Amino acid sequence: MPLPMMRKSAAIRALTLACYPTSDIVTSPVRITVRSERASYQVLVGPGLLGRLVSLIKDVAVTPETTLVVTCPPVWRLHGRRVRSLVGGGRRPAIIPDGERAKTLRTVEYLYDELAGRGLDRSGTVVAFGGGVVGDVAGFAAATYLRGIRVVQVPTTLLAQVDSAVGGKTGVNLAAGKNLVGGFHAPALVICDTELLATLPRREFRSGLYEVIKYGVIASRPLLREVERDLPTILQCRPGALAGLVATCCRLKARVVSLDERESGLRRVLNFGHTVGHALEALTRYRRFRHGEAVALGMLAAAHVSMARGMLTSADGARLEALIRRLGGLPRVDDLGVSAALRLIARDKKVAGGRLHFVLARGLGATAIVPDVSRQELTAAMRSIGMK
Ligand SMILES: NC(=O)c1ccc[n+]([C@@H]2O[C@H](COP(=O)([O-])OP(=O)(O)OC[C@H]3O[C@@H](n4cnc5c(N)ncnc54)[C@H](O)[C@@H]3O)[C@@H](O)[C@H]2O)c1
Ligand SMILES: [Zn+2]
Repeated sequence: MPLPMMRKSAAIRALTLACYPTSDIVTSPVRITVRSERASYQVLVGPGLLGRLVSLIKDVAVTPETTLVVTCPPVWRLHGRRVRSLVGGGRRPAIIPDGERAKTLRTVEYLYDELAGRGLDRSGTVVAFGGGVVGDVAGFAAATYLRGIRVVQVPTTLLAQVDSAVGGKTGVNLAAGKNLVGGFHAPALVICDTELLATLPRREFRSGLYEVIKYGVIASRPLLREVERDLPTILQCRPGALAGLVATCCRLKARVVSLDERESGLRRVLNFGHTVGHALEALTRYRRFRHGEAVALGMLAAAHVSMARGMLTSADGARLEALIRRLGGLPRVDDLGVSAALRLIARDKKVAGGRLHFVLARGLGATAIVPDVSRQELTAAMRSIGMK
């Protein structure tokens, strides 16, 4: 059921928030509570949190003996020692292949075998230690094994820390498309240790930063200002400074998810930039763009529609574009056809039950969800970002 109109607009207003400072060093962990359908859970954000892993997970009654750590090779190689306390004593992690290609039912089956092989019962816990791919696939295995066991999300990419680890969406891809199988399964705990981000490849870091900018556009002008002002510091990846940024985004996502866990209304604001973004990813078979890069281009397209409708001034549109461009180059789009993208968007619309909710910027820091945008508007928007 969509939120009633009054409540929804009040809720959107309530989203506008102040930020944790990015310029100050955050040393003690920030605790954020997410209210989920069945229970609430905490998101902890701070540098060096994994140094206290065992005591942190004790809070949710997880013991190393009943835990399966799921990770991927690069994360295990770079940071495996940080979760040694969970995999010591002859235990080993379940290591799945790296990248989007691991988000399959085959990987889930491998995880079921690991869980069953280790005799984990309903008191068991999956610890998802990796980026969004590990989080989604391990989360889905946990959601379905024995009809659901606990999952603790320990996200290791900026994108996963500010977005995918919070909110309980889990799932895998099918040959027919991305995220076509999945379920909502709230984590028992989310631990965002910003020290992990120091080893992220530049491009992955920037990909997450575009999602941070998205939060600014949908709900927080101060956040946008912070990113504009502190970009050089942010790009240095100092864990203490990043903690403020991650905490601000998690707090925003926590608010949205607490109000609308199953995306019947308000949660859709998080999809700003994603309609065109998803089409760009699908057109290039998920090979050309990192997710955040496609979203960055999608935000520029959505800003174009917003400006054409008089909801965003050209000065604010130019400001958003300048910030996105300051982060660095984006992959080319001049060989990607608008009509093919429109077909993909129409297909997404069919999957969504014939209604595509397009998120527009209402100034910088607020949004409006409109039931439809016309082909002409979408065409002009996609041409404006350079598509053919
Ligand atoms: N569930 C949700 O709500 C939600 C939201 C947004 C995105 N997603 C999903 O998230 C996935 C994308 O996540 P992602 O961008 O984190 O990609 P990813 O998980 O593929 O990670 C990106 C790369 O970074 C490497 N990596 C991870 N942590 C690292 C570290 N600390 N140091 C060095 N390298 C590291 C990984 O090995 C990988 O090569 C997509 O599948 C998307 O569908 C889910
Ligand atoms: Zn996204």
